[in-house]
Amino acid sequence: MSREVETFYVTTPIYYVNDIPHIGHAYTTVAADVLARFWRLLGKKVFFLTGTDEHGQKVQKAASERGLEPKAHADIMVKNFQALWKSMNISNDAFIRTTDEAHKRIVQELLSYLWEKGEIEKRTYKGWYCIPDEKFWTEKELIDGKCPDCGRAVEYLSENNYFFLMSKYQERLIQYIEENPDYILPETRRNEVLSFLKTRPLNDLCISRPKSRLSWGIELPFDRDYVTYVWFDALVNYYSATRYLAPEGYEWWPADHHIIGKDILITHAVYWSTMLMALDLPLPKNIFAHGWWTVEGRKMSKSLGNVVNPEEIIKDFGVDPFRYFLLREVPFGLDGDFSERALVQRINIDLANDLGNLVQRTISMVDRYFNGVVPATVTSPPNGGELKDERDEEIISHAEGILSSVKEALSLLAFHRALDAIWGLVDRLNKYIDSTQPWSLAKNKEEKRLARVLYNCLEGIRFIGLYIYPFMPETGEKIYNALGYEGIKNITLRDFVWGQLSPGTTLKKIPQLFPRIQREVSPPTVTSPPSSAEELPRHQAEFISIEDFSKIQLRVGKVIEAERVKGSNKLLRLIVDTGDRRRQIIAGIGKAYSPEELLGKNIVVVTNLKPARLMGLLSEGMLLAASDEEALSILTVEREIAPGAKIK
Ligand code: ME8
Ligand code: MG
Repeated sequence: MSREVETFYVTTPIYYVNDIPHIGHAYTTVAADVLARFWRLLGKKVFFLTGTDEHGQKVQKAASERGLEPKAHADIMVKNFQALWKSMNISNDAFIRTTDEAHKRIVQELLSYLWEKGEIEKRTYKGWYCIPDEKFWTEKELIDGKCPDCGRAVEYLSENNYFFLMSKYQERLIQYIEENPDYILPETRRNEVLSFLKTRPLNDLCISRPKSRLSWGIELPFDRDYVTYVWFDALVNYYSATRYLAPEGYEWWPADHHIIGKDILITHAVYWSTMLMALDLPLPKNIFAHGWWTVEGRKMSKSLGNVVNPEEIIKDFGVDPFRYFLLREVPFGLDGDFSERALVQRINIDLANDLGNLVQRTISMVDRYFNGVVPATVTSPPNGGELKDERDEEIISHAEGILSSVKEALSLLAFHRALDAIWGLVDRLNKYIDSTQPWSLAKNKEEKRLARVLYNCLEGIRFIGLYIYPFMPETGEKIYNALGYEGIKNITLRDFVWGQLSPGTTLKKIPQLFPRIQREVSPPTVTSPPSSAEELPRHQAEFISIEDFSKIQLRVGKVIEAERVKGSNKLLRLIVDTGDRRRQIIAGIGKAYSPEELLGKNIVVVTNLKPARLMGLLSEGMLLAASDEEALSILTVEREIAPGAKIK
């Protein structure tokens, strides 16, 4: 029975326990989490594995520096990773530690298999060794006598060791990569591996360390004086986990994706692939090596003190904005740069303005016009009125249609493209509201049409909730909760079909999804103009000078909140972001505009008008509007521009 379900197996690297997790580790793990959550939503049986790499010289050294046994050190350090994955809502199905007894047994079993098959040979090794990287180098490979990978000092070694006969797989691996264009992605990394394989003879791989030099590792089953090279032990985790940590009753190997950083491309694309060939096991379907994060343009390092601690970002900005930022900011595969400024911009524009406002205005209109209850819609109008138009059809087909775009993008790990598609729908829904103008429908008592439009808005945000759930699980859940569901559960393909919300459902109140982040911005300097109208000859008094004009400070303001002033049918109370701060403006436009319609609009504000009180409320500025006998229209700016932009 279980065979009928499609499976999906995704992994992250297992991280070294000598380090505290940072933004780089968070990145890979969030990417894997999005895939796991997405394919679970679409009904696949998922196995999502992460864990820690606990053997080897680096860990032994870090432990001894702290005066601890390696295992005791690992037991402490592993908690940092497990706690962070919890804070980040990582939905891993298992967490592997290479010190697990079951893992160790499987590594030994595979080593015995290879030994008996003649894939491993004992030889004397003479050459250079980089301790921090745990890599052997030939004289020729050294750069200025230092490790070509990390530039650190190397040691000369002469010792007997066991070698995995990797070199004989060189041609077969080249052929495999050429015949399977999706095996290594992105394409630049695939080309890198191919050129690595084609430009030099592949060496055999030393897979043992004499215990006299390093004791912290898995003992070789055929020679008790040696432990296994840490990479040979670590890479096996992807396979060993399927034997003791994965849900039973499914074929888990081969994995669908190994997601890694570009730093460990060769160990995966070359060592692991050839190990699997020798083991007569299938190769994973895909290895994806993503790019590298710097911080404010610099390499992250302990000595620079610029290592970004994800726990702090989450505390300051929330987990979902952090997850969103990581996958939205850079196309997966390219390098990225982290800065708080960039994060805040994503929060304020994509999350607060676009998504947050959409949800807020939809829900508040349903509150106002239908008492917070999902309205019933009438399909065929009993008395002829036009209840449905092409804008409705368009929004429905757009919402349903992007499923295939998101699916395709995520199949290729193009997270940014999936988010592009989802934000396309957010934009479309915002435009749908602007163009259908529910407030006018309400004013004109077109109740049936109003019901249909708002039902569509609600279904629209339900779709958004589903689509963003893999990226921002808390926000997806909040949107679903607001719509009267109990979170995102038991989702089936039916939920990706329009019209699932039941009329009559009472919406739940939720707080604003993404409050805007106010940053300290130094106030614009104003030089006071010298001249005044009084000094001018009479006949010129009807002109004003440029200095006169410059006395009026005009700025773009973004409407953050809007509501009616109690006891007035004309006044609206707006909270407007004018770049320097948020200010309250009381505007007499309540007959022409509804509050919902104003949310998110970029308006024109006189920011240096003397504050005044209207019906007891302080108004700190004035917005510009044009009016004739019939209509009143506020001034807005044509393109998206930052709040606070000067108008001149
Ligand atoms: O290499 N930018 O573990 P590790 C992007 N134990 N990603 C980064 C990053 C950065 N600045 N820094 C780290 C190991 N990463 C081995 C792996 S797997 C069988 C064994 C991420 O703790 C990225 O995924 O050094 C990178 O590949 C990984 O952390 C390295 O983690
Ligand atoms: Mg590393």
